[in-house]
Amino acid sequence: MVLESLARIVKVQLPAYLKRLPLPESVGGFLRLTVAEWLRLLPFLGVLALLGYLAVRPFLPKKKQQKDSLINLKIQKENPKVVNEINIEDLCLTKAYCRCWRSKTFPVCDGSHNKHNELTGDNVGPLILKKKEV
Ligand code: FES
Repeated sequence: MVLESLARIVKVQLPAYLKRLPLPESVGGFLRLTVAEWLRLLPFLGVLALLGYLAVRPFLPKKKQQKDSLINLKIQKENPKVVNEINIEDLCLTKAYCRCWRSKTFPVCDGSHNKHNELTGDNVGPLILKKKEV
């Protein structure tokens, strides 16, 4: 039953549909088509465009998946580059600086790296500044 219907579509209905298409015999003929003829032609041209795209798609360059390589997921995303300045005089106040980009007090470490490490199996930690004892 299904094959019978498919055979009828391929052998009878498709050729009849193609025969009725207002395909011009020259490129200039496209300019003389009426709006109604263009509307009848559009589904056919759409299918041709889709088939052409599917045939060419395997050879098109693929975009790299950037999401996996993002380090900063949420800090100052409105800025093209996150830069933090810390005065040397203030270094003695804060000792641990975030390197995992998950801290809610960035650039100061708030311990969020522990949760990140637990969830991902990563091993990141803060930069700890120490004053040399004289
Ligand atoms: Fe990022 Fe501690 S929170 S290194």
